[in-house]
Amino acid sequence: MYNDERKGIEYLSFRRTAMLNRFITPQKAQNNSSSVERTYCIIVRKVNKFFGPKHVLKDIDLEIPFGHIYGLLGPSGCGKTTMVKIIAGILEATSGEAYVLGQAMPQLSLMNKVGYMAQSDALYGSLTAGENLQFFGSIYGMNKAEIKRRTEEVMELVNLSADLDKPVQAFSGGMKRRLSLAMAILHKPPVLVLDEPTVGIDPLLRKNIWAELYKLAVQGVTILVTTHVMDEADKCHNLAMMRNGRLIAKGTSQELQKNIGVQSIEEAFIYYGGQQDES
Ligand SMILES: Nc1ncnc2c1ncn2[C@@H]1O[C@H](COP(=O)(O)OP(=O)(O)O)[C@@H](O)[C@H]1O
Ligand SMILES: [Mg+2]
Repeated sequence: MYNDERKGIEYLSFRRTAMLNRFITPQKAQNNSSSVERTYCIIVRKVNKFFGPKHVLKDIDLEIPFGHIYGLLGPSGCGKTTMVKIIAGILEATSGEAYVLGQAMPQLSLMNKVGYMAQSDALYGSLTAGENLQFFGSIYGMNKAEIKRRTEEVMELVNLSADLDKPVQAFSGGMKRRLSLAMAILHKPPVLVLDEPTVGIDPLLRKNIWAELYKLAVQGVTILVTTHVMDEADKCHNLAMMRNGRLIAKGTSQELQKNIGVQSIEEAFIYYGGQQDES
């Protein structure tokens, strides 16, 4: 079995197990239905995550309004992937809660509502791009006609229409990223969790992808995107800066810069990161 194929299967079974565990174990206390819940699509409360003795997420609090593009920004190893996996229902927090659409994650009934694009592509290498989409579409409960129609739309969006019938193992890294994005949006989920979606994608296509993310956000889709590319941070409606498992600053790019009198998000990141080191 090919490496990426194995990853795909691991991802699916992992996600299913996490969801099923949640399904058969008692639910954590749900948030009281409130205006907070109506305003925010994603709410994270005091989330901590340990891998063995390693404290990877530290008291994370996050609120993401409906229809916003929210950027989680930080250097490699700071905990971005771990955080978004908890929100997407793939990992469980050691303590604290993550709510998506008012439900504590992981939650089986939300599987269809959250489009998740993993940092490492979860694709079947020996299947064609079209077959991969068909497979995921059927998991999401889409019928054949729907899958066919959406496949055409999403493949055009990621500029892979001509590669529909090629086996994924012949794809470059950037093509796999694009197919992964196509898969995450195939079933039109109201929530998108994208882990470094534009890595290895050329600038023009990257621009197109961001344009599409804006379009989706205008339609009400809530998008959480991780990045360590600073110029992408400026494209998000809201940002959270992360360092060593902690959120060190939150706000719009403008706010974060204005608060401390700097002209770029890089400078802001260095400033807030430096503050964190001193405390
Ligand atoms: N399954 C795991 N077991 C042990 N350590 C892990 C595991 N997954 C991630 N880590 C560690 O947690 C930290 C945060 O990782 P990650 O969330 O992938 O960060 P990022 O996405 O920001 O690069 C890193 O130090 C990483 O080595
Ligand atoms: Mg990561």
